[in-house]
Amino acid sequence: MDIDLGVTLAGIRLDHPILAACGPWTATGPEIQAVAKGGAAAVTAKTVTSEPRAGHPAPNYITWDGGALNALGLPNPGIHHWLTEFAATRERLREWGVPVFVSVYAESPQEFATLASLAAQVAPDLIELNASCPNLGHDPTTGAGSAEGIAFATAAVRAAVRLPISVKLSPNTSDIGRVARLAEEAGADAITAVNTLPAMLIDADTGRPALTNRTGGLSGAALKPVALRCVYDISRAVAIPVIGVGGMATARDAAEMLMAGATAVGVGTAIDSHGPRVLGRIALDLHDFMAAHGYPTVAALRGKAH
Ligand SMILES: Cc1cc2nc3c(=O)[nH]c(=O)nc-3n(C[C@H](O)[C@H](O)[C@H](O)COP(=O)(O)O)c2cc1C
Repeated sequence: MDIDLGVTLAGIRLDHPILAACGPWTATGPEIQAVAKGGAAAVTAKTVTSEPRAGHPAPNYITWDGGALNALGLPNPGIHHWLTEFAATRERLREWGVPVFVSVYAESPQEFATLASLAAQVAPDLIELNASCPNLGHDPTTGAGSAEGIAFATAAVRAAVRLPISVKLSPNTSDIGRVARLAEEAGADAITAVNTLPAMLIDADTGRPALTNRTGGLSGAALKPVALRCVYDISRAVAIPVIGVGGMATARDAAEMLMAGATAVGVGTAIDSHGPRVLGRIALDLHDFMAAHGYPTVAALRGKAH
């Protein structure tokens, strides 16, 4: 059977549905190039902010049986330095034919719009609005953390740039379908779901929180069922494509995410644990899974669980 792994996401043609999600594995030019070489169909660069951020002190990333917990606090060099640093890498990825997504985080719709306009200077294939970082101590009922705040931010970016926009959502909400629908109505071309889930680990020997920031974001295997449910709910609520992220490490995980309704699958923590080549391996194994189960295209898998 001929298998076609290609997908189109917000008008962007991808060789296969396996992407590198946003994280420290895509913070620098060499890291972005390494995940592209590892087989990612597209790479999401680590979130950039208007000003440089030092991030939270260590310990800020710990692994445990169920996955990882982090509170990096969005360390990044700030958009102006980042644009200079990133230019050569952007060129390289264009030569390789690997689309690049740029993730931005801001504290108001206006700041999101300004930042997205600046990020547009490197001509990314898509801009991802990080409307969901759990480690910044903001009140989630205000600003870009609320459903309405997300809609305002999306509308402001929509008015400022012509590039495709994906809005990245937190699983920490009672009705993620509604949040996604508001983002869609405000002009989003895709939804990325999910970011990490607010969580905590405590060291029983010392009685202290395991992270300096006390709480952090849960990722990896333990997040997978949460992410599947969120993508399932979102894909029932919106017509735009969903990038499913959370606990993806194998082709079976990816197949389940596509069956939940995703168009593409983002891999994060598994890159940290297994290295960038995990991306190409998942894509190859997905090809074999589809051949063995009689799915000629990704579209044949998509939404099968509905
Ligand atoms: C250490 C770490 C840093 C991350 N940094 C970002 C970030 O800067 N921006 C963002 O949108 N998501 C960030 N994420 C979230 C991931 O992109 C992804 O949504 C989440 O980890 C779930 O996927 P996974 O289980 O495959 O890691 C980060 C995740 C981890 C583990």
